[in-house]
Amino acid sequence: MAKKNLIRSRRMKRGVFITFEGIEGCGKSTQSKLLYDSLKALKSRLVYTREPGGTALGERIREIILHSDGIKISDLSELFLFEAARSQLVKEVISPALKANKIVICDRFSDATFSYQGYGGKIPLEIIKALDRVATDGLKPDLTILLDLDTLTGLERARRKGTDRMEKKYIAYHNRVRLGYLALARRNRGRIKVIKVADTIEMTHRAVAREVERVI
Ligand code: TMP
Repeated sequence: MAKKNLIRSRRMKRGVFITFEGIEGCGKSTQSKLLYDSLKALKSRLVYTREPGGTALGERIREIILHSDGIKISDLSELFLFEAARSQLVKEVISPALKANKIVICDRFSDATFSYQGYGGKIPLEIIKALDRVATDGLKPDLTILLDLDTLTGLERARRKGTDRMEKKYIAYHNRVRLGYLALARRNRGRIKVIKVADTIEMTHRAVAREVERVI
């Protein structure tokens, strides 16, 4: 991606872009929705979306990736599918919303690809970096909330609701994903805020809200 393009995409961005990340069962969907509900006063500025998904194409891709029993998907194909869904979401939803000065809350974004396909699936991070830059046009979140909890507890929580293709991967894979997220957080301290999942949903929400107040 040319430097000029990166500078252009930053200049055109006016709203606030907040993402939620974490391993299976960390409660990020609950927390991201709670945040959305708690920002009611700003409702006209709020956009809530998710990855993979958030567009007609993205939701179809989500179905293929997560619920395609019997269809072979190689690690690289999986990476391209996630990036294809992201490219569409950025172009169709996130970029226009940010240009219109909206607050975009997104359940997962690029950090998920680095953690799952990179650290978990062992695809070289350089390959993901190059592809992701093209897919996002260099767009980065202003704030990423990383909800952290022990891998086994998370997987047990997630599996109570049934399992999709990603959740069926081995515990070693999910351990690498968690360590990957924490490694990304150490390298991006300004942007990624690690919040330990607390005993109650309300306690975790208060910690999330404190971080969000700093950016909106
Ligand atoms: P979730 O919406 O319930 O979190 O499910 C999405 C699944 O897709 C989850 O297992 C994480 C995985 N995922 C990746 O592996 N890479 C990605 O880039 C994204 C966005 C999600």
